[in-house]
Amino acid sequence: MKHIDIVSLYNDPAYIGQEVTVCGWVRTSRDSKTVAFIELNDGTSLKHLQIVLDKEALGDVGAYMPLGTSLKVEGVLVASERNGVEVNASAIQVLGACPGEYPLQKKRCTLEFLRTIPHLRVRTNTFNAIFRVRSVMAAAIHRYFQERHYVYVNTPLITASDCEGAGEMFKVTTIGWSDQYKTAEEYYADDFFGRRAGLSVSGQLEGEMAAMAFGKIYTFGPSFRAENSITPRHVAEFWHVEPEVAFAELPDIIEIATEMIKYIISDVMEKCPAELEFFDKFFEKGLIEKLQGVVDSDFVVLDYTDAIELLKKADVEFKYPVDWGCDLQTEHERYITEVIYKKPVFVTNYPKDIKSFYMKQNPDGKTVAATDLLVPGVGEIIGCSEREADLDKLLAAMEARGMGLEEYQDYIDLRRFGSVPHSGFGLGFERILMYVTGVANIRDAQLFPRTVGSIR
Ligand code: 4AD
Ligand code: MG
Repeated sequence: MKHIDIVSLYNDPAYIGQEVTVCGWVRTSRDSKTVAFIELNDGTSLKHLQIVLDKEALGDVGAYMPLGTSLKVEGVLVASERNGVEVNASAIQVLGACPGEYPLQKKRCTLEFLRTIPHLRVRTNTFNAIFRVRSVMAAAIHRYFQERHYVYVNTPLITASDCEGAGEMFKVTTIGWSDQYKTAEEYYADDFFGRRAGLSVSGQLEGEMAAMAFGKIYTFGPSFRAENSITPRHVAEFWHVEPEVAFAELPDIIEIATEMIKYIISDVMEKCPAELEFFDKFFEKGLIEKLQGVVDSDFVVLDYTDAIELLKKADVEFKYPVDWGCDLQTEHERYITEVIYKKPVFVTNYPKDIKSFYMKQNPDGKTVAATDLLVPGVGEIIGCSEREADLDKLLAAMEARGMGLEEYQDYIDLRRFGSVPHSGFGLGFERILMYVTGVANIRDAQLFPRTVGSIR
């Protein structure tokens, strides 16, 4: 089936006047006495291609008109003042008929309804635009790191260690429900790996090991969280970008994260102007201006202790009280980014008790060299830190958290053999996609989101 992508017909004027073949799905159709019009979409472009049907030449066109029908169309591509180009059809073949119960009819469907038909919602303009941006952004992320000597590594998805230590790991086991074991030890000893295993929440620990050899690495793959939180920002399976950089301290990694975010936003602005206009119109007014602002301006770097002071002075009643030592809640993060600064903010130097064991302990004994990047509308998109490179301090932090050291032997060993200062971060790929598109619910940033109580 020799057909041409619709996007190529729009982009390459050499096709005008030529006989072309296009395939796609009917998005809208309109019948009149002598001519009929079909807007065909093949997914390669947000814009549909208008097909003009001369009813005298083609006979009964009824079978081509129902929305969702898939067609193969042959005809001459002609310039059109209204549409740029259109096809005067000479032959049409129905590839797959589509009955009237097809849920995507003319009326715009709500995002909530579309979530109930994940296999079909991808055929809408909204999802065409979201997934084009997602794809362009993924390529930009790879390009950013590849151009800067990073090695792309793939860390295991099945793991025996819990990177974040937050108890949010899905179990991996081949033993179903069973009452034959008296203790957990017996159970795990009999299991596939002979010990407890789970789906990785982060590739960081293995990433650090690779960075201790390759200097600069990044991962880009799925992470899993069994968080029991139903929010517009949490899914059980998300895509995670995790660079790890040897010899980088906290200010260095903040600089890298800033540069990377600006790079990928610039790239999407350059490659997806039609998609961003669509989002600006239907999802977030002023989106393009916002993104330009992000590219052009500095990000705020705000010490946690100063953030607490700002929140205490704030003229609003927070649901969760603010005190030094507390974890910042969504309402606090939103106040900082949306009310005070109206742009991305790195909050740095969090209290050590609310952060992970691997973070470098600051000389004050109370805080760690960690930072979260918060953005308006979404909240945290990056979790970042300099890593504790000192063996004794690392062991003390693990012991203070009651962690079993056996699972982390390789990681601990790393501090014994030529340890160096190093830093890294984790960027939630869907979270930045939400920020760049203005899409408010993470369930609309994935093809098939998995959330508490929901999988298909
Ligand atoms: O802040 P987190 O938990 O940090 C880590 O996992 C570190 N090990 C990263 C590192 O330093 N290499 O997660 C990093 C980011 C968050 O900022 C968020 O964007 C995203 O991952 N994330 C989620 N995205 C969607 N759904 C969830 N349940 C997520 N949990 C984290
Ligand atoms: Mg975090």
